Order: sequence, then structure tokens, then C-alpha cells
Amino acid sequence: MRHLTGIKNLSREEIGSLLKRADFWAKSPGVQSEVLRGRFVANLFFEASTRTRFSFEVAQKRLGAHVLNFIPETSSTVKGETILDTVRTLEAMGVEAAVIRTRKDGLFEELADQVELQLINAGDGTNEHPTQCLLDLLTMQQQFGKIEGLSVAIIGDLRHSRVLGSHLHALPKMGAQLLLAGPASMMPQPQLVPHGVQIVEIDEAVRTADVVMMLRVQLERHTSSLFISKEEYHLAHGLTLERARMMKPGAVIMHPAPVNRGVEIHTDLVDCERSLIHKQVTNGVAARMAVMETLLRGSDVKWESSLATAN
Ligand code: CP
Repeated sequence: MRHLTGIKNLSREEIGSLLKRADFWAKSPGVQSEVLRGRFVANLFFEASTRTRFSFEVAQKRLGAHVLNFIPETSSTVKGETILDTVRTLEAMGVEAAVIRTRKDGLFEELADQVELQLINAGDGTNEHPTQCLLDLLTMQQQFGKIEGLSVAIIGDLRHSRVLGSHLHALPKMGAQLLLAGPASMMPQPQLVPHGVQIVEIDEAVRTADVVMMLRVQLERHTSSLFISKEEYHLAHGLTLERARMMKPGAVIMHPAPVNRGVEIHTDLVDCERSLIHKQVTNGVAARMAVMETLLRGSDVKWESSLATAN
């Protein structure tokens, strides 16, 4: 794997291998490794982020890398420099990996063949968010001991979700059943929905799924304002207390966050016993350690030797 541009291009085996390594790091909380000692990596966030940005930085520092944090507002991009020229500039200084979040769908396809350093997609427009997808899969695997055979419902603003963009490829590849539910105006483009993915009413999705994953309404990507109030959205399309009571025994609630409490999910459900939302955030560090390590050390990395240097 030269870059992590999306889940679309990964095989089931590659996803499995990343999850295995992420699970190792999840079981090694606080372990400081030297596997990337002396290597320079840069984080370029052209869109707002808390979880992805900081968990990448924690992951990189736990692996011993030197971390450069790019600030778009004080960079030469404000003078018109392109992202490609920016990445090449960092590359010329010896930066070996660039973690990028951008508004632009498909930026990585454009850059991939034009740079030597390794690119990691931290969310591109409404296209993909592969590391969020990996941490979600890790969380499901930890909870249920498997992904194959799980029923996963993703509910809400599907059209504008890059998290869904990655799960549309990952969950069927890993053998899970994917159910989608949401307002008609926020359904994904039909050509993007793979064969076998079911579109259902929200009550059916909540009642039958092992994993109920709620998505935020991404107003920042809408071209017109919502025609209903937040309260109306919550009752019609959100995970209300009443709907949550319909969930199967053992079923869990997930959300990539940030959460809009009281809109797509009732505030009490964010921190309830069924919720894995905070666990997802914790797993973000482990998943991103696995990605950074795998990309920078090469796919034939000898995990045992990195274990030795981790101690
Ligand atoms: N889930 C996620 O991508 O969160 P941030 O926008 O805070 O990084």
C-alpha cells in the first residue's frame, strides 16, 4: 500500500491486516514506540477537525515521529499556492507522509501519482473517510468478536457523509449486512449504493440492526437550508428514546461525531450503556497508529521487531 486514499481500493485482506495491527495498539494503551523515530510527517487540515486531527497527532507521536502541523490560514496557500505544490514543497524538505483533510472530493486520485511522499486521506469532501471507517470496524470487532454477519444500520444524512462513502465499500467487503435509512432528500446517489445494500425505514433499521450508526446532518455541505426544525428532524429521522427502546438486546449505538445532541440522537443516548461513541474516539488513535506504521514501514513490516522496539 503506497497511499491510503480510500477504502475502495483496499482488499478484504488489507483491511483485515490494518485491523489486526490496530487491535494490537488498542491493547497497548500508552505504549510509546520508536518505529517512526526520526521520520517527519505533516498534518494538513483544510477543514475543521478535533478527533481526526488530534488522534493522528497522538498516533504519530506515540510512534516516535516528528510531527509538523500545517495551518492553512498562515501558509502560502493564501497566496494561491495549490495543494499539489504545497505537498511537493513539504516533500522537498524531507516530509515522508502527508495526512490531508480537504473539501475537495477525489483530491487524492489527483495527487497520488504526482508525489513521492505517502498520502493519507483524513476525509475528502463527501467522498471517503477511511481512517474513521477503520476505527468503526475495529470498534465493532471488539464488541462482537467479528464483523462478518453483523447487521449495521447507517442512518441520517447519507448523501453528504464521507463516513458512509467508506462504509459502502468496507462493510459488504467484510461480510456485514448494510441497511440505510434517512430523509428522502439525504439519500445517497443510487449509483453509489452497491448491490445488496438495503434501503429501509428508520424504525425497521433500528429494530433489526446489531449496530445503529447515526450520522450528523452536515448543514455545511447543504446547498439549501433544512425545511424542518431540529425538533421535527429528531422525531422523524433521529434516534429518539422511544426508538432506542426498540433496539435488539446487545445492539449498540455508534456515531462518528461530532454529535448534534437532540437532532440526530437524543442527548441521553450519547453516553448511555449501549453507546460506543467514546470507545470509537479511543480507537481512533490505535487505527491511525496502524495506518501510519503500515504505510511508513512498508506492507511486509515485521510486527515482532516493532514490538521489541516498542518496549
Ligand atoms: N469523526 C470526525 O472526523 O471528527 P472530526 O471532524 O472532529 O475529526
